[in-house]
Amino acid sequence: MKQIGVGILGFGTVGAGVADGLLKHREVMAKRLDVDIVLKKIADLDITTDRGVAVPDGVLTTDAKSVLCDPAVDIVVETIGGTGIARTFVLEALNNRKCVVTANKKLLAEHGDEIFDAAERNGVDIYFGASVGGGIPIIRVLREGLAGNDIESIHGILNGTCNYILTRMENEGLPFDQVLRDAQRLGYAEANPSLDIDGFDTAHKACILAALAYGFRPRLEDVHVEGIRSLAGEDVKYAADFGYRIKLLAKVSKSGDEVEVSVAPTLVPMTHMLASVNDAFNAAWVKGDMSDCTMYYGRGAGRAPTASTVVGDIGDIARNLAHGGARYSRAVKTYGEGSVRLRPEGEIRSRFYLRFMLADRPGAMGVVATALGRHGVSLMAVSQKGSAEGNQPVPVVAMTHAAKASAIDAALAEIKESGVIGAEPVKLRIF
Ligand code: HSE
Repeated sequence: MKQIGVGILGFGTVGAGVADGLLKHREVMAKRLDVDIVLKKIADLDITTDRGVAVPDGVLTTDAKSVLCDPAVDIVVETIGGTGIARTFVLEALNNRKCVVTANKKLLAEHGDEIFDAAERNGVDIYFGASVGGGIPIIRVLREGLAGNDIESIHGILNGTCNYILTRMENEGLPFDQVLRDAQRLGYAEANPSLDIDGFDTAHKACILAALAYGFRPRLEDVHVEGIRSLAGEDVKYAADFGYRIKLLAKVSKSGDEVEVSVAPTLVPMTHMLASVNDAFNAAWVKGDMSDCTMYYGRGAGRAPTASTVVGDIGDIARNLAHGGARYSRAVKTYGEGSVRLRPEGEIRSRFYLRFMLADRPGAMGVVATALGRHGVSLMAVSQKGSAEGNQPVPVVAMTHAAKASAIDAALAEIKESGVIGAEPVKLRIF
């Protein structure tokens, strides 16, 4: 049986999981894929910390070059993270004509063109299955299972940390900061948790999904990204009163020549399957013109689930290398560039949840309704939460019919100007 050698760069959480998977499942993978996948080297600056994996003698090294230049290494796995040295090593591996597997969504979202070009130039492959959805093979679904569809939309809960935080805020009424600390302790959060809670990790993943669905990779700085940092516990509660659960939702969709890629805390009806995705779980709900709605659910973060997808990618490359299968990297070329454009944030249409701290005086509600009406925003439901004490403003929640974000913003600016509200209004999308 043909042998294919693997080298891992980065022996942290995911790297150790990948090593564990390769060593534990070598035999069964050989039977399934008809190729013997051998872990040749693992490089990390720290090779003394116990990672809970019995690595054979001679495999661990502190010298990344010895992985990148070893002729016995056919596939380099990058599990370092970030866009610094990880980018350098990935490019070096590709230029050394080694195939690469990475879970690094930031690297692909920010430097995808350079990396896919290098793979193409060198005639090698790059797989990135675990960059979106951790243990859910959603990338494979879009590249293979749904390849014959026009993808109408993808709605995804793609960040385990945020979903864990939102679930506990809702179920236990806990404050944001306390739950974030627990998410970090459990190893879900990025080294810089701002990437999670400010929505950028989800945005990186949404950009990758857009590239696969539409051949169009928007610039991250053009994508509308809202995180959950300033989400108030009372909005989680009021949304629940209306029958909704708040999720940090990525939306990737296309209509005409416009692609929408956005990330925002969004009210999801409790009756929708996405609302049952709790804790650190992820899900993607994909609507194709032929498949109709399909949903993919699983663990979006953590050592073993992420490693499961990375090892699956290694298996696919190894099978191709051993048996002469075709390369994949050509398929992630951004074929849509020039024919589609990113829909500007203001043009995005949605129903909205609005909360105002409204002055308790005659006509105040009228000012709000009139301003919204003037901008063509129709109200669907309005509810005052609690009763006024003294002259204190009262929380009032309004649910709108579908409207353009720019119309809502214009109405909110007028409402603020009128002096009937006591704090910044809250604006959340409704799925
Ligand atoms: N920090 C990410 C999350 C890890 O919480 O989902 C997986 O990408």
